[in-house]
Amino acid sequence: MRILVTGGAGFIGSNFLNMFVPRYPEHSFVCFDKLTYAGNPLSLTGIDSAKNFSLEVADIADGDVVNRIFGDFRPDLVVHFAAESHVDRSIHDPGAFVRTNVVGTMQLLNAARALWKDPSSSTARFHHVSTDEVYGSLREEGAFTEDSRYDPSSPYAASKASSDHLVRAFHRTYGLPITITNCSNNYGPRQAPEKLIPLTILNALEGRELPVYGSGGNCRDWLYVDDHCEAIWKVIECGQVGQTYNVGGNEERTNIDVVRALCELVAQQTGRSAADVLGLIRFVEDRPGHDWRYAVDSSKLKRELGWEPTLRFAEGLARTLAWYIANPAWVKAVQAGEHQKWLEKNYDRRLRTANDGRTNS
Ligand code: NAD
Ligand code: TYD
Repeated sequence: MRILVTGGAGFIGSNFLNMFVPRYPEHSFVCFDKLTYAGNPLSLTGIDSAKNFSLEVADIADGDVVNRIFGDFRPDLVVHFAAESHVDRSIHDPGAFVRTNVVGTMQLLNAARALWKDPSSSTARFHHVSTDEVYGSLREEGAFTEDSRYDPSSPYAASKASSDHLVRAFHRTYGLPITITNCSNNYGPRQAPEKLIPLTILNALEGRELPVYGSGGNCRDWLYVDDHCEAIWKVIECGQVGQTYNVGGNEERTNIDVVRALCELVAQQTGRSAADVLGLIRFVEDRPGHDWRYAVDSSKLKRELGWEPTLRFAEGLARTLAWYIANPAWVKAVQAGEHQKWLEKNYDRRLRTANDGRTNS
């Protein structure tokens, strides 16, 4: 197969490529990535000299470029990760999310449709990687199924919901062979430190404050990134065209529990006292429109395709921390990036407006 992986220099895409480029030397992979602040070429160093891999630095929202890449590479399979992915950024600049996540997805769908002229007689596939955030927020009970109503809260979630609708519409209207996965929060190596887990790890290692939004009671379901990549591969290989599959880790945790667990792990790894590290926690101003709880019912994926998560949360967190400690060059490069300035500006804003800056001890 010729496999086009959009957003392959980002967190999940780079883990996907690092897993499958060496595993499948008979397939060729092109990473199509704009290398925004979230796209890191250092995340691809393990595979960048592989014979079956190449990188195209380009923008999925630019139709001419998309058509050129589809014409040159003629993919049989598109795995579409590329997106603006951070909820907090989407609150500040929704337009960038509409451009990449909605317009960019449409450009890819148009190009796939033009290339795969007779989809019914081909083995082509467009796999769209999406999020459980399209379903909105849960209270204390229940879990999202594939039939849950779309009810996105943030501009990020709304733009992903919109892209899901476009992907489905291209299937129903033009017969484009698509599959979609909607996954819960991922964690693991190579995630940019603007998201909760890598931010907490790096700040704790550096003795910086650990911002927890609101009460810290918001709840997320966590899935180790390798398990997500295996689920995507399973859907590509065995999933039914036109279907959506939810992917979750069955590991629900409140944010404050995640941050405390990381503090304990950092203390163990560095020989500092747990009380010192826990003392870095700061409850700060809540995120506007902050979804309370996500939980994912992935029984369809288990029942139909036999996929289940393999790594428990405690082990995944320890592995993730070990990766950040073992990869200072990656961390340094990311921290020198433009996103770090953004992070500091917003982090300071939250601390300034925090209720009372109380610490958690
Ligand atoms: P990320 O932000 O780490 O990576 C996104 C990648 O897309 C980056 O390499 C970036 O350079 C690239 N990109 C952004 N705009 C682009 C453009 N216009 N053209 C080409 N490339 C562009 O994101 P991630 O966490 O790896 O998420 C990947 C996908 O998985 C996204 O679609 C996201 O919605 C979805 N998802 C993420 C999570 C999660 O917890 N991270 C959970 C469920 C679903
Ligand atoms: P995040 O990693 O941004 O993922 P998402 O918003 O897609 O779930 O945030 C995970 C949770 O952690 C979310 O409820 C917001 C919260 N959070 C904090 O409390 N502090 C932080 O510094 C960050 C980045 C997130």
